[in-house]
Amino acid sequence: MKEAWRSLRFPLEEYPGKLLGMTCKAEQDYCEALARDTYEGWGELVELGCFLGSLSIPLARGLRANPRPSVRERSLRAFDLFFWHRSMEGSIRGSVLEGRMTEGDWFEELYAANTASVADRIAFRLTDLGAESWDGGPIEILVVDAMKYDVLTNNIVREFFPALRPGSLLLHQDYLHFYEGWIHLMTYEQRTVLEKVTEVERNSTVVFRVTGDLAPFAAAYPPERIFAETPPELLREVYAWQRHAISPDYHDAIEAAAIMSWVHTGQLEEANRAYREQAPRFGDSAQFKWMRNFLTAKGHHLGWE
Ligand SMILES: C[S@@+](CC[C@H](N)C(=O)[O-])C[C@H]1O[C@@H](n2cnc3c(N)ncnc32)[C@H](O)[C@@H]1O
Repeated sequence: MKEAWRSLRFPLEEYPGKLLGMTCKAEQDYCEALARDTYEGWGELVELGCFLGSLSIPLARGLRANPRPSVRERSLRAFDLFFWHRSMEGSIRGSVLEGRMTEGDWFEELYAANTASVADRIAFRLTDLGAESWDGGPIEILVVDAMKYDVLTNNIVREFFPALRPGSLLLHQDYLHFYEGWIHLMTYEQRTVLEKVTEVERNSTVVFRVTGDLAPFAAAYPPERIFAETPPELLREVYAWQRHAISPDYHDAIEAAAIMSWVHTGQLEEANRAYREQAPRFGDSAQFKWMRNFLTAKGHHLGWE
């Protein structure tokens, strides 16, 4: 039924206290504390890929509770395409939204309804981040959960990263995930002006502090860059650095992403070699299981079962 979500109670919750979306409670709590305790208001607070608002709501709540006068006039600037895709179904399975969304639905109004309790602290915009530009001044905190493919990533880097300043915080929600190796490549290239602050939780966000000028990196970032064309030596360097930068507790995600990067770049022998090397340690981890399931569903038969 079209727009069957309109009769629901908002904000949507999976269970009391946990907002419906693709993030976990630890990330939601981290974001709320960040907007409340850390955000000073000298730059904008920006979220890319806000989906149903599971991070927007805590960020906006944090803004409300932030006592600094410099934050009083600030709102979260949130961006999304708000276009329902079947890949989003998993995130609403078993929830009150299940069966109420259809591929191709525009869900901007659903986001508005779900974030209504903090609407005064959110300015959101339906846009294609593959083409969006930013001219809103310095960004103090940038929450990124929209680097879903390389071309989208390239545009976000070129358009939004120049607004980051020394002291800004950059949250990569997809960092501890097997699929998005281009985020690891990009971060490796920016390593001289980024410092890791923390990993928030398993399978999720890594937070970086900006320590220098990202503008030259952003300006030089090739708009047409295709991850599948990354030279093998560079991939090796990228993951050698990740093993050093990311805490060992999260190396299941890093090793799965390294293997997946060989797959993305068409080097299946390397993927096999790396898999056999890492499987004794991480074969039973959630990231390795997701990676195997993903590859099987895509018709890759690598004999990793
Ligand atoms: C993983 S979801 C974000 C989940 C979100 N952080 C949450 O709190 O649940 C990725 C989001 O990126 C958005 N997205 C994908 N491609 C986009 C594009 N080209 N422009 C803008 N947003 C896009 C999707 O609509 C989706 O909401």
